[in-house]
Amino acid sequence: MNGTADNGAERPALTDPFEIGGVPIANRVLLAPLAGIGNWFVRLQAKRHGAGLAISEMVSSFALHYRNERTLRELMRIHPDEHPVSVQLFGHDPEVMRSGAGIAAEAGADLIDINMGCPVPKVRKTGAGAQLLRDPELALALARGAAEGSGLPVTVKLRSGIEAGDRSGFELAIRLAEEAGVAAIAFHPRAATKGHKGKPDYALTRELVGRVGVPVIVSGGLSGAAAARRAYEDSGADAVMIARGSFGNPWVFEELTGRRVEPPGREEMVAEWLWVIDRAEEHLGEERAQRYLRKFHPWYVERLEAPKEVADELQRSADLPRARQLVASLAAPLAGQPVAL
Ligand SMILES: Cc1cc2nc3c(=O)[nH]c(=O)nc-3n(C[C@H](O)[C@H](O)[C@H](O)COP(=O)(O)O)c2cc1C
Repeated sequence: MNGTADNGAERPALTDPFEIGGVPIANRVLLAPLAGIGNWFVRLQAKRHGAGLAISEMVSSFALHYRNERTLRELMRIHPDEHPVSVQLFGHDPEVMRSGAGIAAEAGADLIDINMGCPVPKVRKTGAGAQLLRDPELALALARGAAEGSGLPVTVKLRSGIEAGDRSGFELAIRLAEEAGVAAIAFHPRAATKGHKGKPDYALTRELVGRVGVPVIVSGGLSGAAAARRAYEDSGADAVMIARGSFGNPWVFEELTGRRVEPPGREEMVAEWLWVIDRAEEHLGEERAQRYLRKFHPWYVERLEAPKEVADELQRSADLPRARQLVASLAAPLAGQPVAL
């Protein structure tokens, strides 16, 4: 269902294509950057289920600049079916950003995003992430550096401000679009000090949409398809960016792009979970995948209402063959009985 824009014109549907700096994006439902999570197979999963664009987990511009081997091998791994894909960089040095963005472009990125929203003290202390809201000139130089180094359209993801009521992110977004030629703004309208809590300010996002001539992508509070649709209407944004709402729920992209009405059944959820386990092994090898997957298991455990014993074993001891066995056993209806262990 199309809404109405402020000027009375029909709003595009979430299923309508758009462009970021000339790069065609098939629809307006995007996977947000997610540190420690948004690797090639998580992005590929979102794409398989209909996301128009997936943004990588944040990658250190310094690690790229110094050609850190693991960063290049793992974080810069891009699957051929992911395109278009955006690589998110963080950093505080324009020259290093220029060089890092060039390396991300060589690795196959179609777009570069710069993180100006991370509230984590370890990142802010270096002058990167949300700290850049305090240094707009440096923020502009980073965006220009990334564009020059990569030759790609550059987007920026940022917060509305550092503290509640502070609009420094809003003001910076306007300058980034006007003075640094940024191709889109991903706006998370929560103060950095709020972390991921509290109600995002979609009215402020709407104000930003009225002030910049580039697409605005709204992030924050998009816990599922209904919340995402509401945020799209309330904010007037050009696209939505799903973050925690995608955890263990790639079907949210199908719902939002009109490919699904009914929720997935148990077999479908189990098949998806097994796909994730297989890809994690392919990515990291058996031993590291076993540990890495501890982040992913609880999402699917919750969706499938798996018994506590299964959840505990997956979290504590199950090697990958055992994990696959436990997961496969959850395909059948539970009938209130714990799975035979
Ligand atoms: C585990 C986790 C990791 C995140 N990593 C990043 C990141 O690397 N870069 C970034 O710009 N935002 C990151 N974010 C913020 C999300 O992209 C998103 O803006 C935020 O979660 C708000 O959306 P939500 O309320 O719908 O989850 C992260 C959020 C979470 C929960």
